[in-house]
This record gives sequence, C-alpha cells and structure tokens, in this order.
Amino acid sequence: MIRVAKPAAASIETWFGVGGGADALVTPRSVEDLCAAIREHDPALGPVRVLGDGANLLVSDDGVDGLVIDTKELNSVEWIDTGVRAGAGAGLPKLVTEACRRGLGGLEGLGGVPASLGGAVRMNAGGAFGEIADSVRTVRVVNSLGDEHTLKPSELEFGYRRSNLSGLIVVEAELALPGADPQALRARLKEVMAHKKDAQPLAANSAGCVFKNPDVDGERVSAGRLIDKAGLKGERIGGASVSERHGNFVVVEDGATASHVLALIDRVRERVLAECGVGLEQELVVWKRGVPDE
Ligand code: EPU
Repeated sequence: MIRVAKPAAASIETWFGVGGGADALVTPRSVEDLCAAIREHDPALGPVRVLGDGANLLVSDDGVDGLVIDTKELNSVEWIDTGVRAGAGAGLPKLVTEACRRGLGGLEGLGGVPASLGGAVRMNAGGAFGEIADSVRTVRVVNSLGDEHTLKPSELEFGYRRSNLSGLIVVEAELALPGADPQALRARLKEVMAHKKDAQPLAANSAGCVFKNPDVDGERVSAGRLIDKAGLKGERIGGASVSERHGNFVVVEDGATASHVLALIDRVRERVLAECGVGLEQELVVWKRGVPDE
C-alpha cells in the first residue's frame, strides 16, 4: 500500500486537473489493506473520501482533510460466462469495449462514459443509451467500520444518477451480461460514441455533465439545453467556461482554478433559475475541506 501523509501533499488526479491535494491518501492493493486503512484512520482528522477515476470530481483549491482512498489498484477483472467480476478501480471504458468484443451485451450504451467501475456503480453512471444499474448483479462493499460484505440484487437500489451505496465503499461488482452478437454490439458502441463525439467536448479538462437533467412537470429535460437556452454557452470566469458544444459541460484551460469552476457553476445555476424557472441540481461531486462526502 502506498501511503502519503503530509498536509495537502498528495495530489488528487481529476479530469479537470485543477484543485488541491489530500492531507492523507492511501492506495490499497487489496480489500484487506483498504479495510485496515479505514480502521486505522482517526475520524478526528476528517472524513474518508473515495477516489475513482476522478472523472466527475472537483476538488477545492485548498485540498481536503481526512483520508482519501484511491481505488486504482483494486483493478482485477475476471470474465465469466455470464458477465464479469471486477474491482472498483477497473476502468469502465475498457470493460465496455472488452464486453462487446467477447459478445457480452448490456454495456455498449455506456460507451464514452469515463469512470472507474466503483464510481460508475456508486452513482449509476449512464445516459440516454443505458445505465450501469441494468447490468449490476452484486456489489461488494466496505462500511465505515472497515467491515466488508456483498450486497445481493434485492439489497441494491438505483435511481437516476444515484444508488443506495452512499456511506459505503464499493470495492468490487459483478455485472450480468447476456450473450449477444459481437458485431452488433460493436456497431451499437460505435453509434453511441459517434453521438458523444458530435454532441460533447472531448473529455480532457472537463468532468462530464455538471448538472443532473431536471424533472420538469414529470419529464426529464436536458440541463444542457436549458443552459444553452439561457444564453450561457461560452460564459467564462477566469480559466473556466461553459462549453460551446454542450451547455452542461464546463471546460478548463491553463490557469483555471477550482474557484473559477465553482463560481461559474453558481452563475449558471442562478441564470437558469432566472431565465427558465428551473433549479438545477449538481451531478458533479465537489470535495471541500471540512465538508464530508455525501
Ligand atoms: N441540447 C441543446 N443544447 C446543448 C446541449 C443539448 O440544445 O447545449 C439538446 C440536444 O440537441 C438534444 C437534447 O438537448 O436535443 C439532449 O442532449 P444530449 O443528447 O446531449 O443529452 P443530455 O440529456 O444533455 C445526457 C447525459 C449525458 C450523456 C448524454 C447522452 C445527464 C445529466 N446527461 O445528456 O451524461 O452523455 O445524455 O447519453 O444525464 C454525464 O452524466 O456526465 C453526461 C454527460
């Protein structure tokens, strides 16, 4: 296990590439190591936070207290006839392409979603073409006492970009993937990726959608479309701006800080409320010193 423990010394890698570091960070190589790290952690120093791929995460400029657990080394992948069993740190994009190659269906709609498997399960990653909840069979988790157990399908609850796994650390998941024609799966994956390429900015220096698509009169509407309608594309604070391509993406350039991104998000929320009368809820996870993760 790699340990770092100096005030805000350990850098936290996120897709945004801005923000501070962690006072303490561990990268466990096994679930046992992870459990031990939790048991040894003194809660008086701050909460435990879990780092996946950093694809949907913004860390504030002064970093975070407590303990950050990086799951990247928990990346075992075991293909089985009926699907795959993989560690939380396994990369979702690789699982998606490999499942299609092997003729295992269900993940092709998740093409182009940057995430670790653990992060994807925790927040039920997905979009218009599918969500991971449809494939999840069991989830192995560790609780705040450092004890692990496996949740059966009947114990799992998923909703739109949410699960009942908050407060738990996902360490492994088994996905049920029915057999399908690999060529058809690859063709579908290509279509999904083409839509993303067309509609969204490159994932680099962005963190996917900032807001959840709100429910307006019982119907989910695109937050990106509302932001666009409010005339906010290209809106900028410091090095952070609203993508010209898709309104729900904030892109950053050299010199950007987490504070620029946060201020821009606030401005977008206020303006969409004023112009469209809709309150937007954040999908992006923000880590702040002294504020526990949800
Ligand atoms: N639209 C605009 N202007 C914009 C953005 C979108 O007019 O700036 C319009 C589009 O033309 C389209 C409609 O709004 O008619 C929907 O757009 P899109 O297909 O891009 O889907 P979305 O609802 O905005 C959702 C997910 C994305 C996912 C896409 C495609 C959420 C919050 N967003 O976006 O997920 O990639 O569907 O599956 O659920 C993410 O979760 O990080 C994310 C980016």
